[in-house]
Formats: sequence, C-alpha cells, structure tokens
Amino acid sequence: MNTSPYWIDTAKLPVFPRLNSDLHVDVVVIGGGITGITAAYLLKLAGLKVALLERDRFAAAETGHTTAHLTSVTDLRLQDLVKHFGRDKALAVWKSGETAIRLIHELVEHEKIVCDFQLVPGFLHAPVQDAKGDEVKMLRQEAEVAAELGIDAAFLDEVPLVKRPGVRFSNQAKFHPRKYLAALLQKIPGRGCHVFEKSEVEEMKDSPLSVKVDGKTIHAKNIIVATHVPLQGIAGTVGAALFQTKLAPYTSYVVGAKVPKGAVPEASFWDTNDPYYYLRVDRARGHDYAILGGQDHKTGQVKDTERNYCRVEKAMLKLFPQAKIDHRWSGQVIETSDGLPFIGETAPHQFVATGFSGNGMTFGTLGAMMACDYVKGRKNPWSEIFSVNRKPIHGGVWDYLKENKDYPFYFLKGWLSRSAANSTRGLKRGEGAIVVLDGNKVAAYRDDQGKLTKKSAVCTHLGCIVGWNPAEKTWDCPCHGSRFQPTGAVIGGPAETPLADVSV
Ligand code: FES
Repeated sequence: MNTSPYWIDTAKLPVFPRLNSDLHVDVVVIGGGITGITAAYLLKLAGLKVALLERDRFAAAETGHTTAHLTSVTDLRLQDLVKHFGRDKALAVWKSGETAIRLIHELVEHEKIVCDFQLVPGFLHAPVQDAKGDEVKMLRQEAEVAAELGIDAAFLDEVPLVKRPGVRFSNQAKFHPRKYLAALLQKIPGRGCHVFEKSEVEEMKDSPLSVKVDGKTIHAKNIIVATHVPLQGIAGTVGAALFQTKLAPYTSYVVGAKVPKGAVPEASFWDTNDPYYYLRVDRARGHDYAILGGQDHKTGQVKDTERNYCRVEKAMLKLFPQAKIDHRWSGQVIETSDGLPFIGETAPHQFVATGFSGNGMTFGTLGAMMACDYVKGRKNPWSEIFSVNRKPIHGGVWDYLKENKDYPFYFLKGWLSRSAANSTRGLKRGEGAIVVLDGNKVAAYRDDQGKLTKKSAVCTHLGCIVGWNPAEKTWDCPCHGSRFQPTGAVIGGPAETPLADVSV
C-alpha cells in the first residue's frame, strides 16, 4: 500500500532555491499551496513584484493531500445558506465557487496546462448506508432552492453508482492539482518575481513591513498569509490567537483504488451523512481510478486512526467490489464558526485566506483572486461575506462555544493523565508514546533504525499534550489540531514552533 497521496506520486514539481539575500518586492506571499501559488501567479500577472515563500516543498502539504474536487457545492446546504445569510448571500457563495472554477478553467486554457481538468456533474446523494434523517425530503428541497436561485440542478430518484436519491449539479469540475500548480509555479519567477522553498518565515514586522527568513529580510508593501492555518503575523499575539480559535481542524481519510473501466460516469459524489463520504472517479489507462474520502474527526481526538482507514476501505469495496486499493493518505480540513471561509485583511497590509471547510481547491483559488484584488485596491464582491471580522450569525450552524469546549478538557486530560509509562524501554521501532521522565511529559519516538528522539509533549500553540497518531506516525494535538513530525517539526498549525527539546 502506498501511503503518499496519489497526486504526489503522479506529478513531480520543479525545485526552487532557498532565499539567500535580502529583497524588496511589492508583495510577499507566504505558503506554497494552491492559495499562495495562485495568488503569486495572479499578482505577477497584475504587474507586481512578488516573492513566494514555502517552508518545505510546494504543493506537498494540504494541497498535496486533497482529493481535488472543484465545486460550488459547499458543506452548507443551499437551503441553510438561504436561511442563515439570505437569498443574495447564498447565491453569492455559490457564485464564488463558480468563479473560482471558471478562473482555473481559463488558466488551464490560457497556459495550455495538461492537468486532466474536466467539467463533471456533481451528485449530492443520500448515504449508501446509515442514513440519519429524512434525506429525500431534504434533497428535494435542495433541488427546489437551487432552481429558485437559477442554479442548474435537478432532483434524481437514483444517482448513478450509489443508486440512492440525490441532486445533480452541472458544471462542477476536477483536475490534477499538482500538475496544474507545477505549471503555474514555472510562470512566476522573472520580472522582479521570485519563488523560494525550504524558506520558513521566522518573523513578520509591521514597521517597516517585512518578513525574516533564515536571517534574510524581505521588505514588502503587502503580506499575503496563505498558510493552511494562518501564521500569527502582525495582527498581535492575542488577536491572532483568538482568530485561530475560530478555526477547527479536522482530519479526513482517503483511499485510492483501480476500479473497472467505464462502470460509472466521471463525476464527483458527496453523501449527506455527517461526516460524509466524498468520491471522484477518473478515467485512467486500462482502468478507472476512484478516490474516496471520509471518516473525518477533529484532529488529534481519535486514537485508533487505523480504524478510520479501514472504514473508508470498506466503503470503497461496497461501491466497487472489484476495487484494487493501492493508495491511502489523510488530509486536514479547517472548519469555521459559520461554515464559510475567512478571507480578508487581518491587519494593515496583511491579508489572510483560510477555513475552506473541505473545499480548499475552490476557495483557495477564490482567496488568491481576492488577495490580488486587495493588493490592487479593487472592490471584491465577496469581501464582506468572507470578512475575517464578520459578525457571528445567531442560530448559526457551528457553535463557537461547542467547538472550543474541548480545549480545557483535553488540556487538563493531557496534563493529568497518569497512564503514561516512565521509561522508553518498551518502545518498539517505528513507534511513539508519551512517557513521563523526571516528571515531564515527553513525546518519545524510536525510528526504524532504533534511534530514539525525545521532545517535550507540550504543544507549542496553547500548551495541550500531544498524542501519538500510529497510522500517520505524527504527534497530533487534540485541542486545536496542530500536527508535528515524530522529530517534533511542525507539519500543520496553529502551532508555529517545533516541540521543544527536553533535557532528560
Ligand atoms: Fe492549540 Fe495544541 S493546537 S494547544
């Protein structure tokens, strides 16, 4: 079984240098996923001088772990969008997705990018198993609301493949994200624009506006923060930490499989369960390739993560009994308090895009367009609805208190737990565990060669105790979802600094 994402296995990206001198540019873009790469590309197109920075390799983190659906269909049903935001804003949200898909389509044609981009229907359907409510009634209403809003959608008694009632939405899309981004990346360097990888931002300053990377300084007029979870930046520690608590990271599990050719139309599928399964089917040489994701949970809050993979594999085999599963990987999605992304200014000349709620390819592209408009001082139709300072919605779909209530529980649980061993002797190769050494909680990991790494188990975000994720071989924090490598380096925030060394 291959445990790296299908996209990483099937597309190589060009290599870029580290930053090795001071620079002056118009815009610094931090983060080398779809949002950052697209933003840098668009900003260059708009005539600006840009420096794009990635702390590791491009399109390798969440953008490399996506399933790459491009869709206007959000996790929030259209009927809920209308209920909570009103008809106009519901339609604006739909249009934002449509616009992002159209931009990708145009760039694919304009740059002649071979990235398997294709418009496909998307099917929102009743679950194949474990339906929880009156799905048919809800789906019928969804189709009616879509029709009222002028969206091309229709109720079906039976959706292909799953044979359950559902709604068919036209003109959704899919692509190979790394093939697409590799092409955009190559267009960025030159005419005063730069691309750097293995270049982590250590500090941001507001006067003069600049970022520090490996002892070098880049001065800029604007900073775009396009990291999956935003860096604290220049918004001030308290404000930035509060902003991060509006975000809830979830882990989602994905399996890829060869399936019989032509058995189902190329399409995207999402069921209505919570958490839901999402599927795409692509044509390949000699077979079709199906990618199924699901079994989401708040990052760090499930111990037996292996079981989640097993459930997704089982669901794949139920849909395709002859499936030959050959890939599996997990990704992280960031949910927000009201189900909509946060895209906008967080401090003067600092712009952030995050909280894409599982629709990262689409909203990441939209975020890049909005970032470009922001820098150019252009009005944007979505700046109010996706503003980071928007008012909470009464009776909203996501309860701020509920999502953050786990924090004190896990914080205390981690600190008070007495079940940890007080020696690393029993730790097998390839395993990690929390042990108590000299009264300190230590994240201990023994690699396949037998080398032992000991790091502080205290999450560097707000101090919860991390836990070992055996399936991914990572340290995950149950409070706000930060993830660390076995050796303590940050994989994903809100934590920004590695697990500390321990002197035991
Ligand atoms: Fe917030 Fe760990 S992610 S305390």
